[in-house]
Amino acid sequence: MAKKAQATWGGRFSKGPAELMLAFSESVSFDKRLAPYDIEVNKAHTAMLNHIGLLTKKELREIHKGLDTLSKQIAKGELEWKAEFEDVHMNIEQALTKITPAAAKMHTARSRNDQVATDVRLFFKDACGQVIAKLEALLGAILDIADQNQGVFIPGYTHLQRAQPVSVAHHLLAYVEMFGRDIKRFEEVLENANWCPLGAGAIAGTTLPIDREFTAKALGFVNSRGKAQVTPNSMDSVADRDLFLDFAHACSVAATHISRVAEDVIIWNSSEFGYVELPDAFCTGSSLMPQKKNPDSLEILRGKSGRIIGNEQALFVMVKGLPLTYNRDLQEDKPQVFDSFDQIMISLDVLAGTIEGMEFRIDKCSEAVSDPALLATDLADYLVERGVAFREAHHVVGALVALAEKLDCPLHEVPDEKAKGLHPEIGDDWVEVFDLQRAMKVREGIGMPGPKQIRKQLARWKKQLA
Ligand code: ARG
Repeated sequence: MAKKAQATWGGRFSKGPAELMLAFSESVSFDKRLAPYDIEVNKAHTAMLNHIGLLTKKELREIHKGLDTLSKQIAKGELEWKAEFEDVHMNIEQALTKITPAAAKMHTARSRNDQVATDVRLFFKDACGQVIAKLEALLGAILDIADQNQGVFIPGYTHLQRAQPVSVAHHLLAYVEMFGRDIKRFEEVLENANWCPLGAGAIAGTTLPIDREFTAKALGFVNSRGKAQVTPNSMDSVADRDLFLDFAHACSVAATHISRVAEDVIIWNSSEFGYVELPDAFCTGSSLMPQKKNPDSLEILRGKSGRIIGNEQALFVMVKGLPLTYNRDLQEDKPQVFDSFDQIMISLDVLAGTIEGMEFRIDKCSEAVSDPALLATDLADYLVERGVAFREAHHVVGALVALAEKLDCPLHEVPDEKAKGLHPEIGDDWVEVFDLQRAMKVREGIGMPGPKQIRKQLARWKKQLA
């Protein structure tokens, strides 16, 4: 059954929307989350209206007082959100109308199009700050474990085949680099969010003498020197959803990093590897098999990454064919970013918790890393230092590997005479190459896993986070 005309825009309508249409088109069920930002925007906008003489001091006072009352009600969950008012913006405006008649002037010289664009920019600034803080906490947790495990070595892998030895610290520092870049990515989103679209109106601004810089300043859209930053094109201001894409993308990349860490640790935790023991607090058991302790936190993290990447895809598909400027499709932009935000926040906590409680099993790690084949490349380098061309050295060591396989012995236990017979430059000291400590000490170039280099990188990151 059709209802009476809509309270805010119903002037040209003889009937209100169908119940079905209301239920279908409302967004307040999810955009009410923007309420704190919407109230902030309302306050700044009305302060500006007063500043330019379109609102009296008294009206401004009443509006601000009313908004404070609503803000408290909303925080306590006492405001009744109504689908008939569609979204958070009109719910707040309508609730304010019940408090003061001045509310009827609040929407002067603006549209919900520039209003929502402003609300979400405040949300993104806030959200980026929160994600960055969580990323920093995760980095702290990883750095601690790396620090504690500088002396533990494991095989590093390519193609999931044993490649070369690395310290656990070096492996963990690789994740630190990834999450460090994530921080930069969110910082960039934050910076791009810091431009105020309010004043763009529905599409082409307003004929009223607004002061956009006044509102921008009041809302904190300023550069490092305190200068107001306002968006330069009204059509772009209301049509643009780049921040949604960029924020969702930053979440996708971080989730991808989380997922890759999770996958490494799941492998390390398998009986076949056994490099780590996971904390009970982040594992679960099987309802059938009594012996099981499953790495569920890590598996769910890996699963969440799919969901977060999916959110980004949904946004791209939604935006890509839209003509300028605002189209109602765009109200579907919020569930995805809210979800990516919520999921990345809890994921970062869970990963930090799992990593903090993870213990490396030194016996298993040293057994795996004692495989001399991991240092086959070092023997090739040894020959290069003695003047052999690398390609030739590679072949010689390959022949040694084949020989060891044939003799069914580890590489360094191939009898001296047989080994020396492969090339005249294989000297008496060739087996020394297979000493792990030596192998690490000769890798002190920038970015390599040598112990001094690791200490340097740990110190650099700790300083950066302090
Ligand atoms: N709830 C809407 C959204 O998020 C606000 C803008 C509505 N604008 C409009 N012209 N109907 O997109």
